Amino acid sequence: MRIDVITIFPDYLAPLGLSLVGKAREQGMLDMRVHDLRDFTHDRHRTVDDEPYGGGPGMVMRPEPWGEALDAVLTEHADPLLVIPTPSGGPFTQSLATAWAARPGMVIACGRYEGIDARVADHYAAQAEVVPVCLGDYVLAGGEVAALAIVEAVTRLLPGVVGNEASIADDSFAPGSMEGLVEGPVYTRPPEWRGHAVPDVLLSGDHGRIAAWRREQAERRTRDMRPDLLEG
Ligand code: ADE
Repeated sequence: MRIDVITIFPDYLAPLGLSLVGKAREQGMLDMRVHDLRDFTHDRHRTVDDEPYGGGPGMVMRPEPWGEALDAVLTEHADPLLVIPTPSGGPFTQSLATAWAARPGMVIACGRYEGIDARVADHYAAQAEVVPVCLGDYVLAGGEVAALAIVEAVTRLLPGVVGNEASIADDSFAPGSMEGLVEGPVYTRPPEWRGHAVPDVLLSGDHGRIAAWRREQAERRTRDMRPDLLEG
Protein backbone atom coordinates (compact mmCIF):
# COMPACT_ATOMS: atom_id res chain seq x y z
CA MET A 1 0.00 0.00 0.00
CA ARG A 2 1.12 3.54 -0.72
CA ILE A 3 0.42 6.32 1.82
CA ASP A 4 1.39 9.95 1.29
CA VAL A 5 1.12 12.45 4.14
CA ILE A 6 1.27 16.20 3.49
CA THR A 7 2.04 18.42 6.51
CA ILE A 8 3.92 21.54 7.59
CA PHE A 9 5.56 19.40 10.33
CA PRO A 10 7.15 16.37 8.60
CA ASP A 11 9.07 15.55 11.81
CA TYR A 12 5.75 14.92 13.56
CA LEU A 13 5.43 11.73 11.49
CA ALA A 14 8.84 10.37 12.56
CA PRO A 15 7.31 7.68 14.85
CA LEU A 16 6.01 5.97 11.70
CA GLY A 17 9.58 4.71 11.23
CA LEU A 18 9.25 2.63 14.44
CA SER A 19 7.60 -0.57 15.59
CA LEU A 20 4.87 -2.21 13.51
CA VAL A 21 4.54 0.53 10.86
CA GLY A 22 8.33 0.89 10.60
CA LYS A 23 8.64 -2.86 10.03
CA ALA A 24 5.86 -2.86 7.42
CA ARG A 25 7.81 -0.15 5.56
CA GLU A 26 11.13 -2.02 5.82
CA GLN A 27 9.49 -5.19 4.52
CA GLY A 28 7.97 -3.37 1.55
CA MET A 29 4.32 -3.84 2.57
CA LEU A 30 3.89 -0.09 3.06
CA ASP A 31 5.38 2.66 0.90
CA MET A 32 4.94 5.78 3.04
CA ARG A 33 6.09 9.22 1.96
CA VAL A 34 5.90 12.43 3.95
CA HIS A 35 5.83 15.78 2.12
CA ASP A 36 6.45 19.28 3.49
CA LEU A 37 3.62 21.56 2.37
CA ARG A 38 6.02 24.53 2.49
CA ASP A 39 7.97 22.97 -0.40
CA PHE A 40 4.94 23.92 -2.54
CA THR A 41 5.07 27.65 -1.68
CA HIS A 42 6.95 30.27 -3.72
CA ASP A 43 7.32 33.29 -1.43
CA ARG A 44 10.33 34.11 0.72
CA HIS A 45 8.47 33.28 3.96
CA ARG A 46 6.99 30.00 2.61
CA THR A 47 3.55 31.20 3.70
CA VAL A 48 0.77 28.63 4.07
CA ASP A 49 -1.90 30.58 5.96
CA ASP A 50 -3.90 33.80 5.93
CA GLU A 51 -6.75 35.53 7.77
CA PRO A 52 -10.25 34.07 7.43
CA TYR A 53 -12.69 35.79 5.05
CA GLY A 54 -15.61 37.05 7.09
CA GLY A 55 -13.39 37.69 10.09
CA GLY A 56 -12.92 35.69 13.27
CA PRO A 57 -10.04 34.29 15.26
CA GLY A 58 -7.14 32.21 13.96
CA MET A 59 -5.78 31.60 10.50
CA VAL A 60 -6.89 29.47 7.55
CA MET A 61 -4.60 27.47 5.26
CA ARG A 62 -4.40 29.01 1.79
CA PRO A 63 -5.53 26.85 -1.12
CA GLU A 64 -2.57 27.43 -3.50
CA PRO A 65 0.12 25.36 -1.73
CA TRP A 66 -2.43 22.58 -1.13
CA GLY A 67 -3.36 22.66 -4.82
CA GLU A 68 0.26 22.30 -5.92
CA ALA A 69 1.01 19.58 -3.38
CA LEU A 70 -2.12 17.56 -4.16
CA ASP A 71 -1.65 17.92 -7.94
CA ALA A 72 1.82 16.40 -7.52
CA VAL A 73 0.88 13.63 -5.10
CA LEU A 74 -2.66 12.55 -6.03
CA THR A 75 -1.66 11.92 -9.65
CA GLU A 76 0.66 9.15 -8.40
CA HIS A 77 -2.40 7.27 -7.10
CA ALA A 78 -4.45 5.02 -9.42
CA ASP A 79 -7.66 5.07 -7.32
CA PRO A 80 -7.13 8.25 -5.29
CA LEU A 81 -8.46 8.54 -1.74
CA LEU A 82 -7.91 11.89 -0.01
CA VAL A 83 -8.33 11.77 3.78
CA ILE A 84 -8.61 15.08 5.62
CA PRO A 85 -8.42 14.86 9.44
CA THR A 86 -10.58 17.57 11.00
CA PRO A 87 -12.75 17.89 14.10
CA SER A 88 -15.66 18.58 11.73
CA GLY A 89 -15.27 15.26 9.87
CA GLY A 90 -17.21 12.03 10.27
CA PRO A 91 -16.00 9.48 12.83
CA PHE A 92 -12.89 7.46 11.93
CA THR A 93 -13.92 3.87 12.72
CA GLN A 94 -12.52 0.35 12.48
CA SER A 95 -14.81 -0.26 9.51
CA LEU A 96 -13.25 2.71 7.63
CA ALA A 97 -9.77 1.40 8.54
CA THR A 98 -10.74 -2.02 7.14
CA ALA A 99 -12.11 -0.53 3.91
CA TRP A 100 -9.02 1.65 3.41
CA ALA A 101 -6.61 -1.24 4.10
CA ALA A 102 -8.08 -2.94 1.03
CA ARG A 103 -7.29 0.03 -1.24
CA PRO A 104 -4.05 0.60 -3.15
CA GLY A 105 -3.27 3.78 -1.25
CA MET A 106 -4.32 7.07 0.26
CA VAL A 107 -3.20 10.66 0.72
CA ILE A 108 -3.62 12.31 4.14
CA ALA A 109 -3.77 16.12 4.16
CA CYS A 110 -2.89 17.48 7.62
CA GLY A 111 -4.42 20.88 8.30
CA ARG A 112 -3.33 23.25 11.07
CA TYR A 113 -4.84 26.44 12.47
CA GLU A 114 -8.58 26.76 11.76
CA GLY A 115 -8.32 24.33 8.85
CA ILE A 116 -7.81 24.26 5.08
CA ASP A 117 -9.70 26.62 2.72
CA ALA A 118 -12.90 24.67 1.92
CA ARG A 119 -12.40 25.01 -1.84
CA VAL A 120 -9.58 22.45 -1.69
CA ALA A 121 -11.86 19.56 -0.62
CA ASP A 122 -14.50 20.69 -3.15
CA HIS A 123 -11.97 20.89 -5.99
CA TYR A 124 -10.44 17.43 -5.46
CA ALA A 125 -13.83 15.73 -5.04
CA ALA A 126 -13.93 15.68 -8.86
CA GLN A 127 -10.85 13.42 -9.07
CA ALA A 128 -10.66 11.59 -5.73
CA GLU A 129 -12.80 10.19 -2.97
CA VAL A 130 -12.48 12.95 -0.36
CA VAL A 131 -13.19 11.89 3.22
CA PRO A 132 -13.00 14.34 6.16
CA VAL A 133 -12.55 12.29 9.36
CA CYS A 134 -12.53 13.05 13.08
CA LEU A 135 -10.68 10.94 15.65
CA GLY A 136 -12.93 11.84 18.58
CA ASP A 137 -14.87 14.62 20.20
CA TYR A 138 -11.92 16.81 21.16
CA VAL A 139 -9.80 19.32 19.28
CA LEU A 140 -6.16 18.61 18.42
CA ALA A 141 -3.71 21.28 17.30
CA GLY A 142 -3.60 19.80 13.79
CA GLY A 143 -4.14 16.71 11.67
CA GLU A 144 -0.71 15.13 12.32
CA VAL A 145 -1.65 13.11 15.42
CA ALA A 146 -4.78 11.93 13.59
CA ALA A 147 -2.60 10.89 10.62
CA LEU A 148 -0.41 8.82 12.98
CA ALA A 149 -3.50 7.06 14.31
CA ILE A 150 -5.00 6.47 10.85
CA VAL A 151 -1.75 5.11 9.36
CA GLU A 152 -1.27 2.73 12.30
CA ALA A 153 -4.89 1.52 12.33
CA VAL A 154 -4.81 0.85 8.57
CA THR A 155 -1.29 -0.64 8.40
CA ARG A 156 -1.91 -3.29 11.06
CA LEU A 157 -4.76 -4.60 8.90
CA LEU A 158 -2.54 -5.13 5.83
CA PRO A 159 -1.96 -8.85 5.14
CA GLY A 160 1.16 -10.13 6.90
CA VAL A 161 1.82 -7.03 9.03
CA VAL A 162 0.48 -8.41 12.33
CA GLY A 163 2.03 -11.87 12.90
CA ASN A 164 -1.01 -13.52 14.47
CA GLU A 165 -4.10 -12.90 12.30
CA ALA A 166 -6.32 -14.08 15.19
CA SER A 167 -5.23 -11.10 17.27
CA ILE A 168 -6.84 -8.82 14.63
CA ALA A 169 -10.07 -10.86 14.60
CA ASP A 170 -10.24 -10.46 18.41
CA ASP A 171 -9.87 -6.67 18.42
CA SER A 172 -12.39 -4.37 20.01
CA PHE A 173 -14.68 -3.16 17.16
CA ALA A 174 -13.59 -6.02 14.85
CA PRO A 175 -16.38 -7.89 13.03
CA GLY A 176 -17.01 -11.41 14.41
CA SER A 177 -18.44 -13.14 17.45
CA MET A 178 -17.56 -10.21 19.74
CA GLU A 179 -18.79 -7.62 17.24
CA GLY A 180 -20.05 -4.45 18.88
CA LEU A 181 -18.24 -5.14 22.17
CA VAL A 182 -14.95 -3.87 23.54
CA GLU A 183 -12.41 -6.44 24.74
CA GLY A 184 -12.50 -7.57 28.35
CA PRO A 185 -9.50 -7.81 30.71
CA VAL A 186 -6.40 -9.86 29.81
CA TYR A 187 -3.82 -11.51 32.09
CA THR A 188 -0.38 -13.13 31.89
CA ARG A 189 2.12 -14.61 34.38
CA PRO A 190 2.58 -14.61 37.34
CA PRO A 191 -0.68 -16.24 38.55
CA GLU A 192 -0.62 -13.99 41.61
CA TRP A 193 0.80 -10.45 41.74
CA ARG A 194 0.76 -8.25 44.88
CA GLY A 195 -2.13 -10.24 46.26
CA HIS A 196 -4.19 -10.07 43.01
CA ALA A 197 -4.95 -13.50 41.50
CA VAL A 198 -5.68 -14.28 37.85
CA PRO A 199 -9.34 -15.46 37.55
CA ASP A 200 -9.42 -19.26 38.09
CA VAL A 201 -11.39 -19.95 34.92
CA LEU A 202 -8.44 -18.82 32.77
CA LEU A 203 -6.22 -21.48 34.37
CA SER A 204 -8.89 -24.22 34.03
CA GLY A 205 -7.97 -25.35 30.50
CA ASP A 206 -11.74 -25.54 29.76
CA HIS A 207 -11.97 -23.67 26.43
CA GLY A 208 -15.77 -23.55 26.45
CA ARG A 209 -15.93 -21.99 29.90
CA ILE A 210 -13.08 -19.59 29.02
CA ALA A 211 -14.89 -18.39 25.87
CA ALA A 212 -18.15 -17.88 27.80
CA TRP A 213 -16.34 -15.99 30.57
CA ARG A 214 -14.58 -13.73 28.04
CA ARG A 215 -17.88 -12.96 26.34
CA GLU A 216 -19.50 -12.06 29.67
CA GLN A 217 -16.52 -9.85 30.61
CA ALA A 218 -16.65 -8.08 27.23
CA GLU A 219 -20.37 -7.42 27.73
CA ARG A 220 -19.79 -6.07 31.25
CA ARG A 221 -16.94 -3.84 30.14
CA THR A 222 -19.00 -2.52 27.21
CA ARG A 223 -21.93 -1.76 29.53
CA ASP A 224 -19.60 0.12 31.94
CA MET A 225 -17.37 1.97 29.49
CA ARG A 226 -19.31 2.22 26.23
CA PRO A 227 -23.07 2.01 26.81
CA ASP A 228 -23.44 3.91 23.51
CA LEU A 229 -22.31 0.74 21.66
CA LEU A 230 -25.23 -1.25 23.11
CA GLU A 231 -27.95 1.12 21.91
CA GLY A 232 -29.98 -0.39 19.07
N1 ADE B 1 -7.75 17.96 13.86
C1 ADE B 1 -8.00 18.63 15.00
N2 ADE B 1 -8.74 17.91 15.85
C2 ADE B 1 -8.99 16.72 15.23
C3 ADE B 1 -9.70 15.55 15.59
N3 ADE B 1 -10.34 15.43 16.76
N4 ADE B 1 -9.74 14.54 14.72
C4 ADE B 1 -9.11 14.65 13.52
N5 ADE B 1 -8.43 15.72 13.14
C5 ADE B 1 -8.36 16.75 13.98
